[in-house]
Amino acid sequence: MNFIDLTLLLSVILAVFSIVWSTLKTGISPMMSSSKARDAMLDELELEKEGAVIDLGSGWGTLVIPLAKKYPNKQIVGYELSWLPWLVSIILKYSLRLDNLTIHRKDFRNAELNTASNIICYLFPGAMIALQEKLEKKVFNKVTIVSNTFALPSYKPTKITKLNDFYRSPIYVYHWSQK
Ligand SMILES: C[S@@+](CC[C@H](N)C(=O)[O-])C[C@H]1O[C@@H](n2cnc3c(N)ncnc32)[C@H](O)[C@@H]1O
Repeated sequence: MNFIDLTLLLSVILAVFSIVWSTLKTGISPMMSSSKARDAMLDELELEKEGAVIDLGSGWGTLVIPLAKKYPNKQIVGYELSWLPWLVSIILKYSLRLDNLTIHRKDFRNAELNTASNIICYLFPGAMIALQEKLEKKVFNKVTIVSNTFALPSYKPTKITKLNDFYRSPIYVYHWSQK
């Protein structure tokens, strides 16, 4: 094995280890929304409203990159903890010169959500509980929330769309405002 082969092998091992580690730490892998889910989610956003679109767990940039490209005047924000997907999405951001896109390598539970008009996410049940608690305690603005597959445990969605895929995956839409 030559030096290049060894470097490649070590890089692959490091990348796999990093993804496994962050999956164990966050509770979910950086699995991308399918193209059907992405299209259905983006259709539900209310982009005429003032304020940022925030992806809680932006992964490789599957949702934030097309959004930032299509809406250059809209502020798009991602929060991502897993460093490899975050790095790839940052490289895409700079390669495509998406000045309206900010991607934080930060836990979304510490995110500032009061500037958001729309929130998108594809998380897991535990993270939806954390999101619900954050909304109840910290979010006083009106926000449209679009979630792939997982629902907020205590709130009734305004709309549920079932995707035409193998799992009939649901896309939940909420119109959040404090009672
Ligand atoms: C299933 S992926 C979804 C990626 C992208 N939003 C999409 O729909 O294609 C979920 C992502 O959320 C990230 N994540 C999970 N918990 C997080 C947290 N507390 N803060 C920031 N990112 C988180 C994971 O690292 C993972 O990349």
